[in-house]
Amino acid sequence: MVEQYYTLITGSSSGIGKSLALECASRGMNMLLVALPGPELEQTANEIKSKFNIEVRYFAIDLTGIEAPRSVYEWCKNQNIKVNSLINNAGITGTTIFEKSNPEYSDLRIMLNVRALTLLTRYFIPLLRQCPESKIINICSMAGFLPVPYKSVYSATKAFVLSFSKSLAKELEGSGIRVTVVCPNGIESNTLSTQRIRTHKRWAKLVTITPGRLAKLTLDNAEKGKRIFIPLFINRFLLFIGKIIPDSIISQLLEKEFRDELNY
Ligand SMILES: NC(=O)c1ccc[n+]([C@@H]2O[C@H](COP(=O)([O-])OP(=O)(O)OC[C@H]3O[C@@H](n4cnc5c(N)ncnc54)[C@H](OP(=O)(O)O)[C@@H]3O)[C@@H](O)[C@H]2O)c1
Repeated sequence: MVEQYYTLITGSSSGIGKSLALECASRGMNMLLVALPGPELEQTANEIKSKFNIEVRYFAIDLTGIEAPRSVYEWCKNQNIKVNSLINNAGITGTTIFEKSNPEYSDLRIMLNVRALTLLTRYFIPLLRQCPESKIINICSMAGFLPVPYKSVYSATKAFVLSFSKSLAKELEGSGIRVTVVCPNGIESNTLSTQRIRTHKRWAKLVTITPGRLAKLTLDNAEKGKRIFIPLFINRFLLFIGKIIPDSIISQLLEKEFRDELNY
């Protein structure tokens, strides 16, 4: 009997995660969708099932719960679901004045963007090791390279994801598990993201990629074994320029650029 492997994608009921799920399914990968409880998750699972001849399972959970990462792992083990790709996509952004934000605002971002991603990775590595070739794809952000004013907690969580993924890729070299970290700039993945991106006016069009294109390029680059993938030449160029310009000037430019996002 041919072994059935699954790709687990967190936050796959909508946004970038849903596009990643559709792209994986189009490549014949069986899907395990993990997202918040609600009708969207089942709808997405049904949509994928109707379009592609693959197996689709789903598990509804709030990943910010203390036991959530372990529950996902145990559910997979109990159901004997063999996961050969883990895509840590679920993440919450946000633009705010830190001093005025609720403590819960920071807590939510740290619990989802950092804790859930790290613990899911830890739990799933032993299962990934049992598969002939496996991958971890962590959806980060260009904010991981830059401390962004008004996105102080978000950019710090993404700096964690970037650093963690780079170290882990090296640790897992030769293990059969490849790690790719994806650092996009803007993606019009939902209404709020679209409104925020559009505050950047002329920059918005230049640096933004569609969720569908991002999903395709992410899988292409992960399959090639790329460790860090920054979509679009303009974004790679901006990061290169950023290395030459003093930090004080960069943070001044970013402060001006992201101030308007505070309205959303
Ligand atoms: N959009 C951008 O401009 C942009 C840019 C760079 C990086 N990114 C990164 O890309 C990733 C996806 O972003 P997105 O824009 O697609 O976000 P999104 O549209 O808000 O979608 C987030 C997904 O995560 C799920 N989710 C949210 N909170 C969750 C929780 N506590 N537990 C389980 N699932 C949860 C959502 O489920 P529900 O649908 O049920 O709410 C949804 O499926 C994030 O890591 C983000 O940081 C986004």
